[in-house]
Amino acid sequence: MKILAIAGSNSDTSINRQLVTYAASLFENEEIEVVDMNDFEMPIYKHQREVESGVPHQAKEFAAKIDSADVLLISLSEHNGTYTTAFKNVFDWTSRIKERAVWNEVPMILMATAPGARGGLGVLEAAEKRFPLHGGNIIDTFTLPFFNDNFDKEAQKISNFEKDTELKEKINKISQVETILEK
Ligand SMILES: Cc1cc2nc3c(=O)[nH]c(=O)nc-3n(C[C@H](O)[C@H](O)[C@H](O)COP(=O)(O)O)c2cc1C
Repeated sequence: MKILAIAGSNSDTSINRQLVTYAASLFENEEIEVVDMNDFEMPIYKHQREVESGVPHQAKEFAAKIDSADVLLISLSEHNGTYTTAFKNVFDWTSRIKERAVWNEVPMILMATAPGARGGLGVLEAAEKRFPLHGGNIIDTFTLPFFNDNFDKEAQKISNFEKDTELKEKINKISQVETILEK
């Protein structure tokens, strides 16, 4: 089983990358790949760019990684209540690839964390509403509020017992999704 962990951020110190990397580590003996938006940096979407040059190879590479995954863990950073520009650009370009849906029905846990009380709930709600229109197969969602209090940066794991238990239950659940086992 291949786990693709995606941080919807281009920050080199991304807290969402730290969270999604920890979440991926909860799968035992599985192939894990962690990516963030720096891996797919490309010009901002523009209609004329698409007409002249087509979809950039970075978006095609992102799509290929999704297609090769059995589980997606996606943790989105929140900028002004919604997606970061870096993530939205990758999402927009990938949605222009013909004859495939962005998330290709791969079972996913949709996550977000932020330093504040809402833990990125704004971006999580936006994605929860939108992703199913792009082949998003959302099995569960998870937010980690007050990242600095609830995540042990040295140990790189969630320090809040209740939130850690919640995440582990959700990882356990997606591991058992029948469609994955059938693959
Ligand atoms: C332009 C900008 C807008 C932000 N807007 C929000 C916001 O709406 N809600 C929030 O909880 N945090 C907001 N933050 C704080 C981010 O949650 C914080 O920078 C976090 O580290 C981003 O996640 P990342 O480190 O994974 O990129 C904002 C930060 C920036 C730079």
